[in-house]
Amino acid sequence: MKGILLSGGSGTRLHPMTLATSKQLLPVYDKPMIYYPLSTLILAGIRDIMIITTPHDQEQFKRLLGDGSQFGVTFTYRSQPNPDGIAQAFLIGEDWLDGAPCALALGDNLIFADHLPLMLREAALREKGATVFAYQVRDPERYGVVTFDEKGQALDITEKPADPASNWAVTGLYFYDHRVCDMARQVRPSARGELEITDLNQMYLDEGTLQVDLLGRGCAWLDAGMPDSLMQAGTFVQAIQSRQGLLVGSPAEAAFRMGFIDAEQLRAHGRKMSKTELGRMLLQVADTLRSLA
Ligand code: DAU
Repeated sequence: MKGILLSGGSGTRLHPMTLATSKQLLPVYDKPMIYYPLSTLILAGIRDIMIITTPHDQEQFKRLLGDGSQFGVTFTYRSQPNPDGIAQAFLIGEDWLDGAPCALALGDNLIFADHLPLMLREAALREKGATVFAYQVRDPERYGVVTFDEKGQALDITEKPADPASNWAVTGLYFYDHRVCDMARQVRPSARGELEITDLNQMYLDEGTLQVDLLGRGCAWLDAGMPDSLMQAGTFVQAIQSRQGLLVGSPAEAAFRMGFIDAEQLRAHGRKMSKTELGRMLLQVADTLRSLA
């Protein structure tokens, strides 16, 4: 399975912070925002990752992330000239995907859960159809919203409904089978002119192959696309890291746990940032944990 990290868009809901830089490069506590969904893809066991950015922000992403070898993965960069919709990622990446199944992570989403690696690997291993994750929120009208029947079966997904039928929002992490590009080519622009990811998910739902996994109370899902949610995400990461001493959203740690890099490579990450608490925590992980490989 390959992965796409979608990090374009204009970030207008974070102006003026995003006038001179990309939203996904802004800090969420002690790391750039994109580190969080990148760690999620790594924890799903994905090593071949396409990073889609705006054309003018791409250089900065390359400076931050390089070719991926530092995390034991491979990055391919592509640009999206206009924010024409999330589902466009599959048209941009179609030749690169070359018929492979694909996970898509939005560059401003943070998921944190105890059993996350297991959940992700189950979704990545499912052969037919697509998997999305739903999470209860107080403001479902901001998201794609799932409606369920009385047996708990997903009936329908609506993008930003004015009057949501449930409070289950679809998170920005999606797993699709090898047919995803064919399906994405059938998506037509919505009233707001975008190729909606919700329309693609609805296609899988209509053919009976969409799995909706519910994220319960033990999980945190945050999107950092507005000033309040950006602040909340930072506060959340700070609380977990300083209270438990556990890292949230570190691609180096995730790569080490997945066996993509060894303890010495992890130490090199830690040493590069030795003046930071993050660097010290990476060194500690390298000394106390054995890689899963
Ligand atoms: O965060 C989850 C939600 O993400 C889902 O519940 C919705 O169904 C889905 O449509 C999306 O809603 P948003 O309103 O949050 O999407 P937004 O336009 O903010 O884009 C999300 C991320 O994707 C953001 O980091 C920018 C990036 N993006 C977005 C578009 C439309 C791109 O890179 N290119 C695009 O064309």
